[in-house]
Amino acid sequence: MPVWHLRDFHDDDLDQAIQLWDQGRHADLSLPVFPVSDVVAAARGGQPAVVALVGEELVGMAVARAEGERGWIMIVALSGAWRNRGLGSALITQVEQRLRAKGVRRFSAVLTPGSTGTAALENSGYRQVSGLVYYEKLEHPDAGDAGLLAQLGGRVMPHGLWERLAGMHAAKDAIERRIVLPLTEPELAESYGVRPPKAVILFGPPGTGKTTFAKAVASRLGWPFVELFPSRLAADADGALAASLREVFADLADLSSVLLFIDEVEEIAAARSGTAVDPGHGVTNELLKLIPAFRDHDDRLLICATNSLRTLDSAFLRPGRFDYIIPVGPPDAVAREAIWRRYLGPSAQRVDIDRLVSASEMFTPADIEYAARKGSQQAFENEITHRTGLPAGTDDFLAAIAATRPTLTAQALETFNEDIERHVRT
Ligand SMILES: Nc1ncnc2c1ncn2[C@@H]1O[C@H](COP(=O)(O)OP(=O)(O)O)[C@@H](O)[C@H]1O
Ligand SMILES: [Mg+2]
Repeated sequence: MPVWHLRDFHDDDLDQAIQLWDQGRHADLSLPVFPVSDVVAAARGGQPAVVALVGEELVGMAVARAEGERGWIMIVALSGAWRNRGLGSALITQVEQRLRAKGVRRFSAVLTPGSTGTAALENSGYRQVSGLVYYEKLEHPDAGDAGLLAQLGGRVMPHGLWERLAGMHAAKDAIERRIVLPLTEPELAESYGVRPPKAVILFGPPGTGKTTFAKAVASRLGWPFVELFPSRLAADADGALAASLREVFADLADLSSVLLFIDEVEEIAAARSGTAVDPGHGVTNELLKLIPAFRDHDDRLLICATNSLRTLDSAFLRPGRFDYIIPVGPPDAVAREAIWRRYLGPSAQRVDIDRLVSASEMFTPADIEYAARKGSQQAFENEITHRTGLPAGTDDFLAAIAATRPTLTAQALETFNEDIERHVRT
């Protein structure tokens, strides 16, 4: 007659159970496939969990988990004095019964060789399957943020966005040295007294790549990218805009790392007019208040983008809130060439790139993308009509350039250069 008594696990057994698993772990020197937290969660969550008691003492335990027709035996733990006495098999028989009641037809266990429970499994009719290799991948610690991230519309940017950003040497260099490096080499930066940036402004005419830069920085850092759309903040009631901005920042505080991007920040941070009824006023103040708290956390970066620096509230631009104010200007010839090559694809070999580059002065990357697409499309349509067999050529793209109105006007460029004079902080 066995001298032990078997029964279902109760929450009160937890302390003794954990002691028992700890002993087992030291004895086996094994890495448990199912960590203690999983075993406890299963045992408390109504999965089969059976303990063996001798008097008051807990001397054995087995926990399993049913998943459809398959049941996993997660752990078989025995105290030292009770090994090789049939207790393991008795526990396994009990959890199997409970698994069967849940519809399980196939019983599985993954153990390290020689660990507690292997003899009991073999005695209970389990067959060792050879030729399998156990694979495991540990998720990045940020994985716990996944739910919150999804709720905030955030995502992790793919690798390589930075490398795909063609040309734009001046902006790229400034952003690399001032923003990316201090954040990717924090210890080295600190040893030189360099404080990693917490908030920066990118400004420049539309389509020059501010959004692209912000995403590329997130890709470099491996931080999730969350974009805040001013237009999507609730604005139904008085003060609701400010409250919903506060809410977004509160949610962000729970993420372990984040790059927050606010495009067209002038929509929330426009100069306060000073009149009593100023709908933007409350929210501008709110953003001004939220930035210092945001700056207190490590591993976060705020990037604000704007086309019109001069409409931003002056308090916003005062030192202390933003570490850097960096211009992202129209691409120079080198940059334009790289951008043309990117968008021409195979046609790049057959065209006179230099002519396209000089014909597209004042074009932003976005304009070049548009002209390249337009030229290819037109050449394709001509081919459908005329069937000449000729690929898209220089003339197709020059025609497309002529038909593209550049985003940058002389006026916009002048404004941009004035803003650089007055505000740049790098
Ligand atoms: N340096 C670049 N190289 C290649 N494409 C670029 C570059 N900068 C911008 N683009 C492309 O131009 C378009 C507009 O860029 P975007 O970042 O949205 O500009 P902005 O935010 O300044 O208005 C996007 O399709 C982007 O992929
Ligand atoms: Mg943009």
